[in-house]
Amino acid sequence: MILLRSKLSMLWFLFVVTVQMTEVLGKSKLIEYEACESRDNTVSLRSNKASTAPGPEPGDLAAAFAVRTLDGEFSYQPGAVRGSLVIHAFTNKSGFLECMWSSESSLTSLVQDLPNSTQVLFLSLDDSAVSDALWMREQVQRVAMHSKKEVLSRLHFCPMPVFTLGNWIPNVFYYWGVASRLSQAVFTSEGWKMPVVIKRLDARYDWLTTRWDQTSYEMIDAGDGCDPSPSVTGAVVWVSEGNCSFFTKVQNMAKSNASGVLVYALPGNPIQDMNCVGDECNSMLSIPASMVHQEPSVAQALQSGEPVYVTFQSTPSPSFFFSIDQQGVLAEMGGFLYPSFSFINWQAQWFDFYADLQTKLQHPAKVVSVFDKVQMQGEKGAVATVDLPSGLWDFDMLELDAALSCPGRRDSSCAHWDHTVQLFVCCDPLGPYCNTELGRWITAFRRGIGRWLTDVSPLLPLLDSSKCTLTMKTVPWAMPWIVSLNLRFSVRNQTDGVTGNGEDKLRPFRLMSLYNGGTFDKNYNKRFEPIKFLVPVSTKKVELYAVITAHGSDENSCGEFCVTSHHFLFNAVFNNTLIFDSAGSPLGCTLRVKEGAVPNEHGTWLYGRGGWCDGLQVNPWRTDITKQLNMSMSESNTVVYFGLFKGQDPNPSKEPGYIIMSSFLVFYK
Ligand SMILES: *[C@@H]1O[C@H](CO)[C@@H](O)[C@H](O)[C@H]1NC(C)=O
Ligand SMILES: *[C@@H]1O[C@H](CO)[C@@H](O)[C@H](O)[C@H]1NC(C)=O
Ligand SMILES: *[C@@H]1O[C@H](CO)[C@@H](O)[C@H](O)[C@H]1NC(C)=O
Ligand SMILES: *[C@@H]1O[C@H](CO)[C@@H](O)[C@H](O)[C@H]1NC(C)=O
Ligand SMILES: *[C@@H]1O[C@H](CO)[C@@H](O)[C@H](O)[C@H]1NC(C)=O
Ligand SMILES: *[C@@H]1O[C@H](CO)[C@@H](O)[C@H](O)[C@H]1NC(C)=O
Ligand SMILES: *[C@@H]1O[C@H](CO)[C@@H](O)[C@H](O)[C@H]1NC(C)=O
Repeated sequence: MILLRSKLSMLWFLFVVTVQMTEVLGKSKLIEYEACESRDNTVSLRSNKASTAPGPEPGDLAAAFAVRTLDGEFSYQPGAVRGSLVIHAFTNKSGFLECMWSSESSLTSLVQDLPNSTQVLFLSLDDSAVSDALWMREQVQRVAMHSKKEVLSRLHFCPMPVFTLGNWIPNVFYYWGVASRLSQAVFTSEGWKMPVVIKRLDARYDWLTTRWDQTSYEMIDAGDGCDPSPSVTGAVVWVSEGNCSFFTKVQNMAKSNASGVLVYALPGNPIQDMNCVGDECNSMLSIPASMVHQEPSVAQALQSGEPVYVTFQSTPSPSFFFSIDQQGVLAEMGGFLYPSFSFINWQAQWFDFYADLQTKLQHPAKVVSVFDKVQMQGEKGAVATVDLPSGLWDFDMLELDAALSCPGRRDSSCAHWDHTVQLFVCCDPLGPYCNTELGRWITAFRRGIGRWLTDVSPLLPLLDSSKCTLTMKTVPWAMPWIVSLNLRFSVRNQTDGVTGNGEDKLRPFRLMSLYNGGTFDKNYNKRFEPIKFLVPVSTKKVELYAVITAHGSDENSCGEFCVTSHHFLFNAVFNNTLIFDSAGSPLGCTLRVKEGAVPNEHGTWLYGRGGWCDGLQVNPWRTDITKQLNMSMSESNTVVYFGLFKGQDPNPSKEPGYIIMSSFLVFYK
């Protein structure tokens, strides 16, 4: 299991490269959030200004264009392309892109997993566009040879540099590049007239959280780095790849008190993504490390004992990716946390999800608009009172159509952190269900594309009224989100029903509130008393409905990144269980992009979490418990809830996590 520390500190990596990352743990978490978000406000103001630059912006329709390709011409006509189009500009000035185009696993993911509705146009930013295009094509052809050739017809390689295209495409690459950087190492030595600047690729974030300082380091050659080395204290060590793992090298050098590690590729080899493997990933190392090419002048100077110094810089660059979705709308591609084409696939999967969502939104429904691009911020959140149409009893389906976007048109204007968003409804200010939770989402790290349709039909009885007030809010210190929300009332598609015995036509008529969560400590389960209840007359079906998410970080990374289980025990026999078994898994939330989890967020969105993903709605857990109950009015039933970590009561020694839960019994007739 990978430690939580890295998962949080990752947030900075793409945008604020020079900011020293801080550990964000336990109690300091909230304080850090505040500090980060106010610091970030200045960044977003700056980037909002950049968005007044000429050229199209995200959300604009893409105009027609045509470019030469190695095979002839690629032409884009609005409306003529059925799927999505990803456009990538390569430059070999980037160690990140060099690695992305060299790594077998990265190329394989492009060839094997590119959604079949997606085409990709490859360009180069440089004078070397012809050889770049030929090389890129060769790379994918080589990998496709062994597996899937079909994909090649959807990949297009343009041999003209972006700056010669003469259409709107250069505008997008040159003005959308807020996040794109060329990471470099700069070497100096007394005998040299000029510094030597080369590209670098920093080690993967999950095991190396420390980034380079803005200082000048002395360099020492330490061979292959496979053994600890005396007298490298304070220096950046120059070590060759090979003979042992990247992890071993960095661990040895950390033990030897080096300030950092530069691993050079052996001649002819590409820069690699320095990652940990297996058990190595359980240890965090706290010195920075990067991979570079072997620079002969550096190697020679070190060999002859001349002092060499190194500094680290990151230089703004045109962006490397943008895309056009199924509707012909221009879109950013978000952050790529490591060099892999998987990030293109995830964005393309999301476009497929979004196209599907557009179709679902065409289905007939009675739509009640609650928020139309309203700002949600602070204690108040976003609030609206709406009139509900009469005749709602005819509808047995209620969906929340919710979207979270950002103050500006670019993702750079979006709030940075993943926070819980809750929607509360109050239709009877004096009743017991005023301000009951109707929906829950988690915000994306700095991406404003999220839109989700959540089926909350069991909660229909909360809305049996003519006027209701809805409040949507997140933590008051979060940067603002722009929210849109429609309530969609409809008649359930009968053919979707599981059983054909008329059960589909049942409608919920009453709710009974059960348990809320709380601090996930050793007393967690002591707070839950059994509840006795009678099933109301004429009830045909009873459902358990619960929305549960686990948050926080104790020494076991509970609840966000630990596997918790949640149990509702009826009549002391029937144990209904929900397990968050993907919590903490490295790619858990990438599997949910197809369900609408926002991909390529500027933070650690990939890890599975306790009942949720960043940039996604929280799906209600629904179980038919009719058969577990005594349905007659003369006999009562009992229910009790408990939540466990590894099958036991939680017992954290520090900073317990917490469970957010709303749960109901839903009675249908
Ligand atoms: C990219 O650059 C590296 C060294 O900087 C070089 O070895 C490699 O051949 C270049 N690749 C291409 C496709 O130009
Ligand atoms: C594309 O993928 C979808 C779902 O994965 C599949 O149903 C469809 O048949 C595929 N189409 C082609 C042309 O391969
Ligand atoms: C790997 O180890 C061998 C044998 O110890 C050594 O000769 C060689 O130089 C090492 N490789 C590198 C790249 O340092
Ligand atoms: C590294 O630093 C620690 C603490 O200053 C010291 O105890 C240790 O001996 C040093 N190790 C080496 C190899 O210099
Ligand atoms: C009902 O569901 C079926 C199968 O899922 C689908 O083919 C049909 O289009 C749906 N009809 C409506 C009106 O949603
Ligand atoms: C109520 O239902 C449970 C489970 O079906 C059963 O074990 C229990 O005996 C029932 N109680 C009575 C009083 O019948
Ligand atoms: C319910 O099931 C869980 C695991 O599935 C188990 O740990 C727990 O003890 C069970 N509780 C009861 C009361 O049966």
